[in-house]
Amino acid sequence: MAMQRRDFLRTTLAGAGALVFARNFSPAEDAAFDSRIEILLDETLGNISPNIYGHFTEHLGGVIYDGIWVGRNSKVRNVDGIRADLIEQMKRIHAPIVRYPGGCFADSYDWRDGIGPAAQRPTRTNFWVGAEPKDGPDKHRYEPNEFGTNEFVHFCKLIGAQPYLAANLRSLPAEEFYRWVEYCNSPAGSTTLAHVRAEAGYADPFAVRFWGVGNEAWGCGGNFTAAEYAVEFRRFTAWVPGYGQNLSFVASGPNGDDRDWTREFFTEIVRKGQDQLRGIYGWALHHYAWNLSRGRTQDWEKGKGDALQFDPVDWYELLREGERVEDMINGHWEVMGQIDRDRRVKLIVDEWGPWYKPGSAATPSDLLEQTPTLRDAVFSGMTLDCFNRHPDQVAMANCAQLVNCLNSLFLAHEDKFVVTPVGHVFAMYAGHQGGQSVRTVFSAPSITYDRDGKPASFWGLKGSASLRGKSLLLTAVNPHVSQAREAAIVVRGASVKSATVTLLTDPDIHAHNTFAERARLAPTSKELPIGPLLAVKLPPASVAALQLELA
Ligand code: AHR
Repeated sequence: MAMQRRDFLRTTLAGAGALVFARNFSPAEDAAFDSRIEILLDETLGNISPNIYGHFTEHLGGVIYDGIWVGRNSKVRNVDGIRADLIEQMKRIHAPIVRYPGGCFADSYDWRDGIGPAAQRPTRTNFWVGAEPKDGPDKHRYEPNEFGTNEFVHFCKLIGAQPYLAANLRSLPAEEFYRWVEYCNSPAGSTTLAHVRAEAGYADPFAVRFWGVGNEAWGCGGNFTAAEYAVEFRRFTAWVPGYGQNLSFVASGPNGDDRDWTREFFTEIVRKGQDQLRGIYGWALHHYAWNLSRGRTQDWEKGKGDALQFDPVDWYELLREGERVEDMINGHWEVMGQIDRDRRVKLIVDEWGPWYKPGSAATPSDLLEQTPTLRDAVFSGMTLDCFNRHPDQVAMANCAQLVNCLNSLFLAHEDKFVVTPVGHVFAMYAGHQGGQSVRTVFSAPSITYDRDGKPASFWGLKGSASLRGKSLLLTAVNPHVSQAREAAIVVRGASVKSATVTLLTDPDIHAHNTFAERARLAPTSKELPIGPLLAVKLPPASVAALQLELA
C-alpha cells in the first residue's frame, strides 16, 4: 500500500513541484502520505473580493417573514424587528453584502409599497403565491410590506454589510428605478423622496452602490431575448444620477450555462460603441445544482434529488453538478472577453447552491426550504474555493438563500434558530475576504465509484489559499465519502511558524443540524505540530480550514 502511494506521488508530482517535495520529505516520510498540497506564495492570482462571501434574500416563503423580520413587538429576541440571533451570526461570518428583494420577486415588486408609515403600506399578492404550500402563512402569500427598503438597509447597517438592490425591469418603468435610486441616495434635505426617507427616521442617504437591473431577464424577469434585454438595460442605466455614489450596475445573465445569451447581450450592448461597457459593473450568473438524475431527465421536477435521503452516488452527483460552476466562469469569461477586450465587466454569481425536491424543510410550510447536510457543506466549501481561485473574474457571489430557503446558512422559526453546516463553512472561510489569492497545487488519488454500472471518477482533494501579511489561510474539501486523506503541506517561499486546523466533518454523510439537535455538526479546531514536515489528516467527507502563520 505504501509503495502504491509513493508511486502515485511520483507520477502525479512530476514537474517543478516534485523537487520541492523531494527536498522536504524522506522516502520513509513520503510513504506516510497519499496526497500533497503545495502553496506557491509567489504566484498570486489577485485580490479576493470580500463580496464573493455575499448573501441573497428574497420575499419568498420564510426568508423575510420569520427568517429575518419578526417584528418589533415579537417575543423573539430582536433589534428593531430584526431577529437578533441572525444579526449576531451575520457579524460572526463578516457578511459583506446582501442581495434583496429577489430573485423573481424583484421584477414584480414596487419599492414604494415598502416605504412610509407601516400602517399605510399596502398588502400585495406575492410573486410566489401560486407555489406556496397550502398551509403557508398569509404573509408568505400576500405581501404585507412590513419589511421594505428601510428595514433592509437597516439590517445591512446592523450587520456591517452593503446592500445590493435588484430593480424591477419587467413591470415598472425606468423612471421608477431612478426614483428608487433617488430615495436611497439623494442627500439629506435635497429631494421630496429624501424628505420621505427622513420622516421614516433615515435622514442620511443609504448610499447604495450595487444595483441589479432586473433578474433572470430570460424568464421571470421579462421573458426577453438577450438582445431585447440589452436594449432595456441600456435604457434603464442611461444617465441615472448617482448622488456622489459610483453606481455599479449588474446585468442579468443567462439561463444556466447558455453562452449564446452572453454573446448576444454583449454584441447588442456594443452596437452603440465599446464605451457602453463602462456602464456594466457585473454580469450575473446563476448556478443551481439540481439535476441528480444522472442523465435520465432534464425535467425540472423529476430531476431533483432528496436533501436528506441519499446514497454515495447522489453525493458525488451533487458535487459534479456543483463543479460545473468553474466551467461556467471560464466559459462566459471567455465569451465576454471576445467583446469586452479591456475586461471592464466582472462576473457576479448572485445565486448559487443545491436545489432539492421539497420535503426536508425544518418548517414544512416554508416554500423552497431545505435542510442542509454535510454534503451541502462540502458543496459550499468547494464552490467558495472555486471563487477564491478566480479573483480576477468573480467580483461577487451570493449564496441562495440566507435563511429558511435553499442552501441556507441558518434555519429559523419563531424562537428557534440553528446554524446549518453551510453557515459553519462561511465562518471557516471568512478569513479569505480581501486576502491575496495564491496558486495551490493539490495532488491526491482520484475517487472512482460506480455510476449506474459504469465507472465514474471525481477529484480527490481541492481547495484554495489566500495570504494577508504573514497569515495564510488554506481551505480544502475531501469529497471522498469513506476515505481520509493524509496530506503533506508544502509552502513554497516561506517556513511555517504555527498551524491550526479547523475541521467540519462527521462519520455520517447525512449529518445535519436541527432545532432539536443544534450542534450535531460543528467545526472543531486543533493545533498541528510544526516539525520538519507539516501534514494534516483530512477525514472522509470533510471541509478544512488551516490557518498558518509564516516566519
Ligand atoms: O432562489 C429562488 C429563485 O431561483 C429566484 O427567485 C430566481 O431568481 C431563481 O430562479
